[in-house]
Amino acid sequence: MGICVWRERAALVAGVEDASTGLALDQDGGRAPSRPGRDGAIRATASEGDSARHASEPGGEASVGHHPHGDLLARSVPDGAVRAHAEPAVDFDNWDQLIDAIHACQACELAKNCTQKVPGVGSRTADLMIIGEGPGHDEDIRGEPFVGRSGQLLDRMLAAIGIAREQVYITNIVKCRPPNNRDPKPEEALKCRAFLDAQIRAIEPRVILSVGRVSAHNLLDTNAPVGKLIRELHRLPGSEVPVKVTYHPAYLLRNPSAKAVAWQDLKQLDRILR
Ligand code: URA
Repeated sequence: MGICVWRERAALVAGVEDASTGLALDQDGGRAPSRPGRDGAIRATASEGDSARHASEPGGEASVGHHPHGDLLARSVPDGAVRAHAEPAVDFDNWDQLIDAIHACQACELAKNCTQKVPGVGSRTADLMIIGEGPGHDEDIRGEPFVGRSGQLLDRMLAAIGIAREQVYITNIVKCRPPNNRDPKPEEALKCRAFLDAQIRAIEPRVILSVGRVSAHNLLDTNAPVGKLIRELHRLPGSEVPVKVTYHPAYLLRNPSAKAVAWQDLKQLDRILR
């Protein structure tokens, strides 16, 4: 592991974990080589029937049966939330058509107020997909997710487990900046969901890192607190893809003491990806 990675990790866990007791990763993190690209049509399911998504109080989590990730895997119990996926499906012939559709989308108010769309960035054959909430000011200007202060911390977090930004695919629940950085409304997230689903289907990540409350609640159909969701590994409802929840980098910037927990999340992520 390079010296700068050690420094990053030491900075991340400052005062909490001895940098000499962490993971030993080579530069590519010991992961399997990237898979070849996929040519088939990309099918997304448009999201409907979300009215009950936030209808009940958050609840617990239950283990599920056998899975390649064994005991690590748990499934969030929706507690009355209704899975948002439903027909009609939206088909995209290929990745470029999907990205074009995002750029052309005018399905909600967010599209009218943003500077530009922020579809996502990174490797389309990534093992790790990172899903945040929505573009902020810097992302809106640059057209790329996680490029502001949060993004810089996210890059350092990845570097701490030997992963470069270019190796992952990064996107958000919504592709347009919500005004004044407010949370995306459920109906806005729902309108954007077909794009996200299509991205997940095309990339077929081995694991999703869900950063922050809005991302976790939308992906897992729950209202449970992030502090609870981070305790277990989930899977994307309706699929086998593991979802690891962690604190949003913006939260970590405001609450540095939570970095110790985030470091544990990163180590778990690293174990899954090995
Ligand atoms: N926060 C997010 O959730 N996403 C971004 O792209 C930037 C900040």
